[in-house]
Amino acid sequence: MNSKKYFDEVAQQWDIMQQSFFSEDIREKAFSVAGVKKGMIAADIGAGSGFISEGLIGKGLKVIAVDQSEAMLAEMRKKFSGAEGIEYRLGEAEKLPIPDEAVDYVFANMYIHHVESPQEAIKEMVRILKPGGELVITDMDEHEFKFLKEEHHDRWRGFKREDVRRWFEEAGLKNVIVDCIDENCSCRSSCGEHASISIFVASGEK
Ligand SMILES: C[S@@+](CC[C@H](N)C(=O)[O-])C[C@H]1O[C@@H](n2cnc3c(N)ncnc32)[C@H](O)[C@@H]1O
Repeated sequence: MNSKKYFDEVAQQWDIMQQSFFSEDIREKAFSVAGVKKGMIAADIGAGSGFISEGLIGKGLKVIAVDQSEAMLAEMRKKFSGAEGIEYRLGEAEKLPIPDEAVDYVFANMYIHHVESPQEAIKEMVRILKPGGELVITDMDEHEFKFLKEEHHDRWRGFKREDVRRWFEEAGLKNVIVDCIDENCSCRSSCGEHASISIFVASGEK
């Protein structure tokens, strides 16, 4: 099974799965690092069922939510039916369905460990940012838990913070900060193995 098929299959349960992995503190930390302001436009890349998008709508931003999975986007449409200021776009990491320099913020939570090339995915997210815009990525630090690849279709076992910092800088971002979030991603394997992995927040300005 590939990653798209996996996420299509878990889309209806994703809200519950996601709540067991991490708390809302992650998105609050991401929004605070970005300094989000009402009325601005944000992209939520690898949006899933809308964990980040929901927080952004609540803060009065306009949102473009992008995901490879039609089923995830369908879940979001159901959940946010009636909400204004959100667009849903089917798209892939390598070619996001958003023009150059179109958004004030790009957020990506627990997304880059699923893409083939995190470095290229970062460049593509930087492309859609307006000059002065902020990219904020929240994801897992490097870890040893193999079952996440086998059972959750992760491609990468987290990241070294120095690599993420370099990728941000090579993509042309300035004021790059890769910092701790006082929160872990928790998950149990089908055999009962328990993973608890620290999460970083990386930010940079275009
Ligand atoms: C672990 S989920 C995270 C969802 C959401 N951001 C959250 O925090 O709940 C990863 C999401 O990224 C999407 N995704 C994975 N690889 C992708 C790719 N190459 N292009 C676009 N979306 C992708 C998946 O379909 C899935 O919805």
